[in-house]
Amino acid sequence: RRISIAIDGPAAAGKSTVAKRIAGRLSYVYIDTGAMYRALTYRALACGVDIHDEQALLSLLRDTSIELKPSPHGQIVLVNGDDVTDIIRGEAVTNAVSLVAKHPLVREEMVARQRALAEGGGVVMDGRDIGTHVLPNAEVKIFLKASVEERARRRHEENIARGFPSDLEKLKEEIARRDRLDSERETAPLRKAPDAVEIDTTSLSIEEVVDRIMEIVNE
Ligand code: C5P
Repeated sequence: RRISIAIDGPAAAGKSTVAKRIAGRLSYVYIDTGAMYRALTYRALACGVDIHDEQALLSLLRDTSIELKPSPHGQIVLVNGDDVTDIIRGEAVTNAVSLVAKHPLVREEMVARQRALAEGGGVVMDGRDIGTHVLPNAEVKIFLKASVEERARRRHEENIARGFPSDLEKLKEEIARRDRLDSERETAPLRKAPDAVEIDTTSLSIEEVVDRIMEIVNE
């Protein structure tokens, strides 16, 4: 039986790294819902659409195809056919995305697309509201957390490894700001679902987290 696995948690808690590995082990599809909100944010910035204008964002979204495609180098993200994989991780999109994601009509449309992608199971989906809203009936729900210091440190090391400029203090602030916006918004805020298993990854390796989740999947 192919189940659905929901992985939620704050920014930079390791959700996507862990979700990709779980999907790989089970031969499931990995669905990065954050990339979908990032893709719309990129389109809004590129087209000069006001990110505070909910109707304008909704029209733009209806006009935007977002594809998540597996590739040998990891998942690539296509917006109306253009590869935006790298640019949606940049500072401009990262700083604006939570303001785009707070609009209820934008979320409604995104959730509909996410549910369609998850139809039939065999998916690992990561985000902020998967266990609480998108897939409330997911067979396995995980909530990953880690201290903000540790999350900023991991992101910092990732940036350095990729040869990107990186400032640890700025990262800490950006992560804390996004957590605040995501948990304080009115529609589907960042929350642990009551039936989710919480894993604090602060002092765990990626493999330890993956093994723990695989134990839960196999229970
Ligand atoms: O996971 P990632 O950091 O790429 O998500 C980017 C942003 O997209 C989050 O900070 C949040 O504002 C929004 N998001 C959301 N709901 C989701 C996934 C992401 O609101 N399910």
